[in-house]
Amino acid sequence: MTDNLSSASVAHNLETRFIGQRVIYYPRLPSTMEAARQEAKQGAAEGTVVIAGEQTAGRGRLKRAWLSPEGSIALSIILRPGLACLPSLIMVASLAVVHAIEKVTGLKPLVKWPNDVLVDGRKVAGILIESRVRGKIVDFSIIGIGINANLRLADFPALSPFATSLSDELGREVSPLSVIRRLLVEIEGLYRDLPAGESLYEEWRDSLVTLGKKVRVTSGETIDEGIAESVTRGGSLLLRHSDGSLTEVVAGEATLSG
Ligand code: BTN
Repeated sequence: MTDNLSSASVAHNLETRFIGQRVIYYPRLPSTMEAARQEAKQGAAEGTVVIAGEQTAGRGRLKRAWLSPEGSIALSIILRPGLACLPSLIMVASLAVVHAIEKVTGLKPLVKWPNDVLVDGRKVAGILIESRVRGKIVDFSIIGIGINANLRLADFPALSPFATSLSDELGREVSPLSVIRRLLVEIEGLYRDLPAGESLYEEWRDSLVTLGKKVRVTSGETIDEGIAESVTRGGSLLLRHSDGSLTEVVAGEATLSG
C-alpha cells in the first residue's frame, strides 16, 4: 500500500502547530538523517520532517545499518529543544511510536530499553536520535524513526527471528500515510508537554518490557549483566548485579536473557 505518500498528503490539514507543517518527501534517499542534518544546518524550522519512500543507506543505532526498503516508514524530524529536554527525547519518540501504532492498528507495542519498539517480543520500529550541542546550546536534534510497516519479514531471513512488521502482525497492509500523520501529532503533543513532564517518564517506564528481566547490556566494549531494576528520569537503566550492587547504564543495547 503506497497511498500516495507525498509532502502535501502528509502535511494536509495536519493537526499540529509545527511538527510536519513543512514536509520534504523523497521517493528514494540514502538516509533521512543526513538530509535532515543538512536542512537543520541551513536553519530549517523546528518541526521540519524529512521522509523517504525508501532508504538505500539507512542507519541504525550503534553504527548498524537499518534496512528500509519500499513499504517501510523512514523519517527524521528536526527539533530545537533546550538542553534539559535532551534526555527526554527518547521517551517522547518511543511513546509517540507506541501511541501511533496502537491508535492506527490496534496492536499493543512495548518498548525495549532504551527505545526499540516491539510487538509480540519482536522489533517493529527503531529510533535514532542525533543532536548537535555547543556548550549549553542545542543547535538541533534529529529524531529518526524507522517502522517496519508493510514488509514481509519472510523475505529477510537474517532479520525475521528478531523483527516483525505491522503487516505481518495484522495479516494485512497498513496505510503508511495514516501511521506517519498520527505519529507527527503524537510527537508534537508529547514534546510540547515536556516542560510539564511528570507523566511522560512514568508512562515510558511502565511501557518498558525490560524491567524485572535478566538482561545483558552491551555499551561499547563493556558488557554488563543483571536484573533491569528500573530507569532514571534521565533515561538510564539501573542494573542490579548478583552481588547486590547497582550500576547505572546510560546507553547501550539490551538483550533480554530471562
Ligand atoms: C535502531 O533501532 O537501530 C534505530 C533505527 C533508526 C532508523 C531510522 S529510519 C529513518 C532514519 N534514517 C536513518 O538512516 N535511520 C533512521
